[in-house]
Amino acid sequence: MLRSALSIGLVSATVLLGGVTLTASASAAPAPPAAGPGKPTPYPADSLRALGDRVGLRIGTAVNMDELGTNAEYTKITAEQFSSVTAENVMKWQLVEPTRGTYDWAAADELVAFAKKNKQLVRGHTLVWHSQLPTWLSSDGYTTTLSNSELKALLKKHVQDQVKHFKGDIWQWDVVNEAFDDEGKPRETVWYKAWGGLGYIADAFRWAREADPKALLFYNDYNLEFTGPKSNAVYDFVKTLQAQRVPIDGVGFQGHLATQYGFPDLQNNLQRFADLGLKVAETEVDVRTFTEPAPNVNTPTSPLAPYAQESYWSRALKACLAVPECISFTPWGFGDTYSWIPGWFTNPQEGAALLYDADLKPKSQYYVIQQDLALAAGAPRRAPGGPGRP
Ligand code: G3I
Repeated sequence: MLRSALSIGLVSATVLLGGVTLTASASAAPAPPAAGPGKPTPYPADSLRALGDRVGLRIGTAVNMDELGTNAEYTKITAEQFSSVTAENVMKWQLVEPTRGTYDWAAADELVAFAKKNKQLVRGHTLVWHSQLPTWLSSDGYTTTLSNSELKALLKKHVQDQVKHFKGDIWQWDVVNEAFDDEGKPRETVWYKAWGGLGYIADAFRWAREADPKALLFYNDYNLEFTGPKSNAVYDFVKTLQAQRVPIDGVGFQGHLATQYGFPDLQNNLQRFADLGLKVAETEVDVRTFTEPAPNVNTPTSPLAPYAQESYWSRALKACLAVPECISFTPWGFGDTYSWIPGWFTNPQEGAALLYDADLKPKSQYYVIQQDLALAAGAPRRAPGGPGRP
């Protein structure tokens, strides 16, 4: 009953849940006083970030820097609802060193400044990946004109320069992203080929630790949520890193979910990695479904789809809440207009994967997450670790 009342978005409805009054529409909440220059945007007691704070769980979002600072509503939601931010693109190698030897940190620095102002932590994404490399290095991540020794020197310099640039400002670094394929085999990327194996991963973690000893260092990948060849391969590999005393602190579960597949045994997978003595995090959550063709790419083809999406969002969050080592829950953006999904999954079309619609209004999925967080006050409190924190 409560869920359906919230889902239809009654503008003036309020409910008391878990000791917090939840407003049924973010726009129905009293407008916070305008933040002056340098002052943080105040955030409501029923915001996702405030509710997450009660159990020490950071609620994050990926941030699109084309919108932050220029789109007022987008900027306000980013500050009010989230206690952690991830650069969706601007910390990737392609963006920070488009021309060999010339760094451009401007957009990433802007995000870090915004996070400091709004008392948010930053997930650094990502240092070593085969995708979104600058074209002078590789146009597809698998081939290059550079020699192996040049690649080795370049990767070391990249990791060390970038981690040093942001030293003290990054809570969790995704040091290595997506090194395994769906069958659990190592991807034979330019890095794999240069090292003649996965040795580049241990090196990257060691370089990152040297450059900022306080940042938490993560391996990040998709489909780790499902027990199977990929999750098993990463699990075994992480154990070999630990046996070699490689400084890895955590594993990121991207969480790109889709209603066409069964819900994964996510909690078990979070738990088994946590049992290795690691932090875990859900780092890029979205829940896509089949949608109408362009231009209505965020309109589900089935009116029942949002119910399945609500269930997936809720179970994804509760899996994290149930595992005390799960320190952050990060949707991959919040407005359907800015999601990568409709541009990527076109045949058949998928979309509508995030918590806010194309007008930046919260969807039923938002209220389900809000309600779950309000009721989670009894969940184990987590200790996030990282710079200056226990
Ligand atoms: O920067 C160029 C711009 O100059 C150009 O005009 C424009 C025209 O297409 O493209 C811009 O680059 C785009 C880039 O995002 C920055 O906006 C690329 O085309 C586009 O492919 C790229 O997509 C990103 C994708 O990673 C690349 O693989 C998505 O925004 C981003 O959400 C997505 O994020 C990844 C995570 O990093 C890792 N896990 C999977 C996740 C989803 O793919």
